[in-house]
Amino acid sequence: MNSLALDNEMVWYDPELVSADLVEMFDPSYWQEKQKVTGSANGRGTTWFVDLDHLEGALRHYRRGGMLGKLIQDSYLFSDWESTRSFQEFQLLNIMKDAGLHVPRPIAARAVKRGPFYTADLLSEKIPKSRDLVSILQEAPLPAEIYQKIGREIRKMHDLQVNHTDLNIHNILIDDNDKIWLIDFDKCYQQTGDGWKISNLARLKRSFEKELHKRNIHWSHEDWCYLGFKVGI
Ligand SMILES: Nc1ncnc2c1ncn2[C@@H]1O[C@H](COP(=O)(O)OP(=O)(O)O)[C@@H](O)[C@H]1O
Ligand SMILES: [Mg+2]
Repeated sequence: MNSLALDNEMVWYDPELVSADLVEMFDPSYWQEKQKVTGSANGRGTTWFVDLDHLEGALRHYRRGGMLGKLIQDSYLFSDWESTRSFQEFQLLNIMKDAGLHVPRPIAARAVKRGPFYTADLLSEKIPKSRDLVSILQEAPLPAEIYQKIGREIRKMHDLQVNHTDLNIHNILIDDNDKIWLIDFDKCYQQTGDGWKISNLARLKRSFEKELHKRNIHWSHEDWCYLGFKVGI
């Protein structure tokens, strides 16, 4: 990892993957002007997919959710550069990637300091030819083998002691080779012990149940068993 320190701004990047202007590349309009926006997805904010010549990137500006989000939208209290959301996620993705987990390769992260606050952005690899579990399950149910693979990926993450604090079915992708990918590691961290793992799983189960009612996904409680977690949730 390389880094670039500017007046009020810090950029961390993988020099092998970055070919664009280090500061401008976090601005979606930079890619729009070059006609290199290839798509977008909506979560909390908009994730822009951009053409990086050799690979596609997913560009995300960090935003708050909930009530607080309506007031301060995208500002976080600054303490030090290495505690910023973007640096934390960039580093965690690197650790997981090195351990062989199926997560997006981090390309670059940035934090911009404004008074006591900062804003943050992350550019990671877009998982090629993938869709999230919600949109897949809106069309058809999934076979047991796929659920077993999903369970295996989550176990790999937990074996590395990574707590995914927002494990839901929007954050699980499946590509055209049926490879399972986990995404969206904002506010996630490595933690000792095991007690918290069940909370990740409970959240995931709630997510299936929520989308069952909200979007009529093709899912039943029996499918939960195929994930292969011994504990009853
Ligand atoms: N690396 C990626 N590859 C493919 N799709 C992605 C990637 N990152 C995000 N997406 C898409 O964008 C959506 C929102 O991104 P996400 O990182 O989950 O942010 P948030 O949920 O905080 O808005 C995801 O549900 C997914 O559909
Ligand atoms: Mg998400």
